[in-house]
Amino acid sequence: MSSPTPNPVTGPLSPEFVPFDIDAIAAHSGHVVVFADANSGLPRAARRIDKLTRGAVSRAVASADFAALEQGGALTLNWPTGLQAARVQVVRLASRADRASLRKAGLSIGKALGKSPALICADATALPDMLQAVALRAYQYQAQKSDPKPDFGPVTVMLRDMDKAAKCADALALARAVHLTRDLVNAPANVLTTTSFATRISDMQALGLKVEILEEDDLHRLGLRAMLAVGQGSDSPSKLAILHWQGAQGAPLAIVGKGVMFDTGGVSIKPAVGMEEMTMDMGGAAVTVGLMQALAERKARANVVGLVGLVENMPDGRAQRPGDVVRSMKGDMIEVINTDAEGRMVLADVLWYAQDRFAPRAVIDLATLTGAIIIALGHDKAGVFSNNDALANAFLKAADHVGEGAWRMPLGAGYDKLITSRIADVKNSGGRPAGSITAAQFLQRFIKPDTPWVHLDIAGVALTKTDSAHAPKGASGWGVLALDALIRAEFEDG
Ligand code: BES
Ligand code: MN
Ligand code: ZN
Repeated sequence: MSSPTPNPVTGPLSPEFVPFDIDAIAAHSGHVVVFADANSGLPRAARRIDKLTRGAVSRAVASADFAALEQGGALTLNWPTGLQAARVQVVRLASRADRASLRKAGLSIGKALGKSPALICADATALPDMLQAVALRAYQYQAQKSDPKPDFGPVTVMLRDMDKAAKCADALALARAVHLTRDLVNAPANVLTTTSFATRISDMQALGLKVEILEEDDLHRLGLRAMLAVGQGSDSPSKLAILHWQGAQGAPLAIVGKGVMFDTGGVSIKPAVGMEEMTMDMGGAAVTVGLMQALAERKARANVVGLVGLVENMPDGRAQRPGDVVRSMKGDMIEVINTDAEGRMVLADVLWYAQDRFAPRAVIDLATLTGAIIIALGHDKAGVFSNNDALANAFLKAADHVGEGAWRMPLGAGYDKLITSRIADVKNSGGRPAGSITAAQFLQRFIKPDTPWVHLDIAGVALTKTDSAHAPKGASGWGVLALDALIRAEFEDG
């Protein structure tokens, strides 16, 4: 069996840093990136290339096309005279660019990267956010190709102050974590099963994470029957994986992820068209795992526990039926109206287990929970539901800071009547009206009243059919950056 070709060691995720060398620019064959802004003098690298190309850069910068670029936008000079390079990308960036512009610049660069070696003449440009964005944009999932080839050549960053290279380590670790999340979401369900996912999680112990995998026997003993009911029609055993990064003392922050490896809908089976997309129904678990890797790699001074419920929702002779009633770990009796409303049954038990065992200072769950959130918010923003304004606002601020779309949605006791069961305590579906809200309202029943909680419905943002702000089409990794930013701002010591 051939193993996938690894990305070159100096690819977008791990650029090589070299000191500024004006002569190396003329000799670089491949792709050269320089920065310039119409309103100020050209930086050193751009000036040098301008001279070598007999004014091509200054003519480009003076053009109407350049004037029309937003900060971070770019135009390309192909086969410029006077250089070995096949192309020079001129990125519009003011010398004191804000974070959003740096990120846009990185995305422009990442989008244009190819197989030929790239030389980014960073000069005095601020690096971490920009290089992170380069790596976020330069992603492709090739694991299922018979002959995988690295899409991106080596990346070299030329900088004036070599001390700045070390400051990029955390930003690049975050980008690697986002790539991990995307790889997991893109992986087909015959490859990434509950078992292989649990194995990958166990392997993360090498990073210093404490990992525990609870098997079906354990889950039976603990009473996580709602979660088990979802997986009982599958040959893949249900598992609850727990990843603990204890970088500080005190009560942990708990991150809970929905890990439905594949969602057929169960006996309430989904239509065939588009069902293949349900391989992404473990997106919440993938973000949780990516985040935990990031925290471990940057040695975050925070106490965070990640819990992912891994199940597969299949129709089968043993599968749960519509009309079944199951007892949750909390004790609430759930009437299964629709076996396709399975994510909330998994989360109900994992949320309860997380609070029961860890008494967390806050709980955040992520789930590709409802089609209705796509109707409400499309693919640009995730739905944010919360019982705590301070935590919700802190999350929205963190998401905004990293450029991930998020929008607060309401909760309210008025919605409870839509999920009141005639024969049990609660129904797992309230039908079409306010579908995302009734799902959140269902989850809230499994949150202790004093636990600050945020529920993120990521069904619209986890996988996109077109390029998004951060990512090529496919899995986006939405949420890893926002949660990391939230933890830095609110849950990290000193
Ligand atoms: N995994 C789906 C939600 C989903 C839909 C995610 C589209 C990504 C893209 C979830 O388990 C589901 O099937 N939800 C149902 C709930 C309904 C039966 C109450 C839905 O949204 O239709
Ligand atoms: Mn479903
Ligand atoms: Zn689902």
